[in-house]
Amino acid sequence: MPVQIGAKAHNFTNPTGLLSDCHRRVEMFLGTLEAVAQVIDRPATDETRRALEAALRYFAQAAPKHTADEEVSLFPRLRQIHDPEIEAAFSKLDRLEEEHRRATPLHAEVDRLGAQFLSNGSLSNPEVDSFRKAVASLASMYKQHIRVEDSLVFPLADRMLSDAEKLAIAEEMAGRRKVRVVTEISTGRK
Ligand SMILES: [Fe+2]
Ligand SMILES: [Fe+2]
Repeated sequence: MPVQIGAKAHNFTNPTGLLSDCHRRVEMFLGTLEAVAQVIDRPATDETRRALEAALRYFAQAAPKHTADEEVSLFPRLRQIHDPEIEAAFSKLDRLEEEHRRATPLHAEVDRLGAQFLSNGSLSNPEVDSFRKAVASLASMYKQHIRVEDSLVFPLADRMLSDAEKLAIAEEMAGRRKVRVVTEISTGRK
C-alpha cells in the first residue's frame, strides 16, 4: 500500500510531490483557522470546536515534520550541489528558513488563544483581535512561502537531485512518520 501524506496520492518515490501534498494540507487547515477566526467572537459551537481542534493538532504535530523534511533533509542536500542555478536559489532557501522561524511565535499565539477558547468557550475582544491578527499573518506568510517552494525550490530539487538523494530524503521523511519506505526508485545517479 503506498504511504501518502496529505490528500493526494504521491508516495515516497516522489518526495517533493509529498512535500507539495503537505502544502495542500497546510492550506486546508489555514482555511479552517481563517473560518474559525471569523466566528471566534461568538460562543463556541461543537462544529467550531471540532474544526479548531483538528487544525491546532495538525499544526502542532504534522507541520513540524514538514519543516524538518525541508530544513534537515531537502535544503542541505540542495546546498551541497555546486550549480549556478542552485547557488542563485540559496538566498531563497535562507529566506524560507527565516520564515519557518517567524511562523513559530504566530503558531504559539494561535495555540494559546485557541486552547483558551476551547476551554472557556469564548475569548475577550482583545483576544479575538490577537487571534485574528495571528491567523491573518500566518495565512499571508504561508501563501508566499508555499508559492516559492512549489514553483521554484521543489522543481529545482526534482531536476538536480539524484535518485539516490531522493531515496535518502524519502527514507528520512518516512522515519519522521515511523513508516517504512517500500519503493522501486532506482539508486543510480541521473
Ligand atoms: Fe517551508
Ligand atoms: Fe513547505
